[in-house]
Amino acid sequence: MNILTLTADGSNTLYNETIGEHYHSKHGALQESKHVFIDAGLKFISEGKTEISVLEVGFGTGLNFILSFEYCNENNIKLDYTSVEPFPLTIDIINQTGYSNYVSSQIWTAFISNYERSLTSSQTLSPLCELEIPHTTLAEFGTEKKFDVIYYDAFSVQHQPEMWSDEIIAHACSFLKPGGVFVTYAITGKLKRAVKACGFNIEKLPGAPGKREMLRAIKGM
Ligand SMILES: C[S@@+](CC[C@H](N)C(=O)[O-])C[C@H]1O[C@@H](n2cnc3c(N)ncnc32)[C@H](O)[C@@H]1O
Repeated sequence: MNILTLTADGSNTLYNETIGEHYHSKHGALQESKHVFIDAGLKFISEGKTEISVLEVGFGTGLNFILSFEYCNENNIKLDYTSVEPFPLTIDIINQTGYSNYVSSQIWTAFISNYERSLTSSQTLSPLCELEIPHTTLAEFGTEKKFDVIYYDAFSVQHQPEMWSDEIIAHACSFLKPGGVFVTYAITGKLKRAVKACGFNIEKLPGAPGKREMLRAIKGM
């Protein structure tokens, strides 16, 4: 059961009763998504590029996706977005988030009208955007494709430790292109060591409100 909850910046998130955790920071869902994934991830990697491929771990409400779609649309960047999600939310819950307020109606309508089909195959949402939400766990996910950026947005290590093991981090990192970027809201010594062991250079960046630091790591060439 997921319960709609207000966060400190006025945006909503969901509380997942089974896991015992929110989908986003209680200090601000919208702020966290923009800070960690859009600013530190997408804007950083897309500088000077006209095409970007994103692999997200945990599609959830689609907040990271719609903000990415809006940014790429405004900047004329072609976006190829894949997001692994074993427990897709219903379209009714997604419609209740209020996230339609954070993007243009054109972006929101393209998302909502293609969401359910995206769970079974890649969909063209606009000439600049493809979306696919493989209905699987990260551990079972496989593809020949390599991505420019990974948004690692799993539930926290306290609530889903298996999503932060060295093996699963290495598995996720194997889908990045050389020079590609891994971003996540979390930073621990264990995570830094796991990412370094995969040949990444790590950066500690200021975290979103409520977190001192976050991790950005760049895969060696
Ligand atoms: C912190 S929430 C992600 C929030 C999401 N990015 C958003 O903007 O709403 C974690 C997500 O990971 C998904 N998840 C749970 N187990 C997973 C697994 N084994 N592999 C991939 N995703 C998983 C959950 O269903 C949930 O949607």
